[in-house]
Amino acid sequence: MPQISILFVCLGNICRSPLAEGILRHLAAAAGRADEFLIDSAGTGAWHIGDPPDSRAIAVAAEHGIDISTLRARRVEAADFDRFDLILALDRKNLQSLRESAPAGASARIALFAEHALATADDVPDPYFGGRAEFEDVYRMLYRGCASMAGSPKDEPPS
Ligand code: 4NP
Repeated sequence: MPQISILFVCLGNICRSPLAEGILRHLAAAAGRADEFLIDSAGTGAWHIGDPPDSRAIAVAAEHGIDISTLRARRVEAADFDRFDLILALDRKNLQSLRESAPAGASARIALFAEHALATADDVPDPYFGGRAEFEDVYRMLYRGCASMAGSPKDEPPS
């Protein structure tokens, strides 16, 4: 039974949020905490519904040993605001979209990824019109945040 359910949200759900989903799932498993997390991703835009992640996102994840190729894009829906404990927007524009579309009285906490996971106020930049370097930068930023969210391995000896 998961202890926390987390939805990552970007614009298209083909670059940043599927990377975040794959990375956190990978790190939670590596920490022996896979069962504690329910992890998903979605987009605020509808252009890519049903599409796999962008080939550059699939490639950067694969280079780091993470397979996100089977994920498929979907749009955020009203039920998400009660289904998830925590909805993390990858940038401020999507944070604003989420806040505007959240049904009144919904239970999910909505926050900016960087504020929750990195203790900074930085947007995770949209890499869609960038190249390999932009995707690698996004990967690294997401990895740092997700590592702090996944915590240390359960079987790590006490220090
Ligand atoms: P994402 O990137 O929000 O990180 O998935 C984008 C993907 C597609 C578009 C924009 C950003 N688009 O304009 O189609």
